[in-house]
Amino acid sequence: MTTKMKLGVLTGGGDCPGLNAVLRAVVKTAINDYEMEVVGFLDGYEGLIENRYRKMVSSDVSGILTLGGTILGTSNRADPFHFPVLQNDEYIYLDRSSQALQNFERLGLDALIAIGGDGTMAASNGMAQKGLNVIGVPKTIDNDLYGTDQTFGFDSALATASEAIDKIHSTAQAHHRVMIIEVMGRYSGWLALASGVASGGDIVLIPEMPYQIDVICDKIRTRNRDGRNFSIIVIGEGAKPEGGEMVVKRIIANSPDKIRLGGISNQLAAQIEGITTLETRVTILGHLLRGGGPTAFDRILASRFGTAAVHLAFQKKFGFMVGLHGNEIGQVPIADVAGKNRKIEADSSLLKTALSLGTCMGVDSLDVLRSQQVPV
Ligand code: F6P
Repeated sequence: MTTKMKLGVLTGGGDCPGLNAVLRAVVKTAINDYEMEVVGFLDGYEGLIENRYRKMVSSDVSGILTLGGTILGTSNRADPFHFPVLQNDEYIYLDRSSQALQNFERLGLDALIAIGGDGTMAASNGMAQKGLNVIGVPKTIDNDLYGTDQTFGFDSALATASEAIDKIHSTAQAHHRVMIIEVMGRYSGWLALASGVASGGDIVLIPEMPYQIDVICDKIRTRNRDGRNFSIIVIGEGAKPEGGEMVVKRIIANSPDKIRLGGISNQLAAQIEGITTLETRVTILGHLLRGGGPTAFDRILASRFGTAAVHLAFQKKFGFMVGLHGNEIGQVPIADVAGKNRKIEADSSLLKTALSLGTCMGVDSLDVLRSQQVPV
């Protein structure tokens, strides 16, 4: 008689649309295809460290496909190797990885499916090296994870950003204003570039390409001269001026990733108004981008990722993260993903598309083309 496998699952890092869709796929595939047992840890790695979990059966995941957030809760402060503990009003950091491994073994688990972004993958890589059988599933609205062409959550955030930019267009046009829309995305400009292209942004500023204020103001003036007396600027929160710095909104002391970006658009608006005298307004989309249910694309991607992760677990292929490679679901070693970020390269086809559409990237477009080594 073969004993049934037992799976653990957790959602770590910032929430995003599609987490529940993955949980649903994991639980359903585990039960339907393999008669496995599943337990869900609460609040990411925190639940594994503190032994907080719940058994998950089909009825627990019915009706959650379209739901935002995560029914398990999450945390972006729960690094098992650097776990914050409050002592005398101050955080001290303890290595709780052995406790996490012990809890995993005590529950008789065969594998852990860790759904998360770069922080969760880095922690999972460390846990894998300690002997935990882990399989990663890549999520984030930032789309900056190495080892997958796309993370789930990105398409949903993109839909929200695009809808918002579309709506801001009317005020920009009616009042002849410069409207700046700031989107999340940390150190990568995927969300800014994709929503800029999707919604016809006139100027798109991304962290990968430090901007020149004169180039931006020239573009706005040229548009006005040509009778298009409004401009839409989409800016990633990690964008910065040439020779300048990113704007840090706050420092989260007890988080492994302490820096929270946000607010660059206010700085930019003041500069544009100062130089052009045109009324310039700012909308920072912030956490709105992480909210709501997943798009159909993300529901499907999350479901494919979830089922693929369970198939890997059944085959005892541990230490991998599932990923979208072209149109297929593949896998990459988590060790290759940990500690890396996927940025927009100079030869990105989306960037080339934006340039061909006449989008100003805040730098001289000839500079961009030269850096791509495209004949000019
Ligand atoms: O990584 C996802 C993300 O939403 C980033 O785009 C953003 O910079 C960060 O998380 C915000 O984190 P928090 O919710 O902790 O402020």
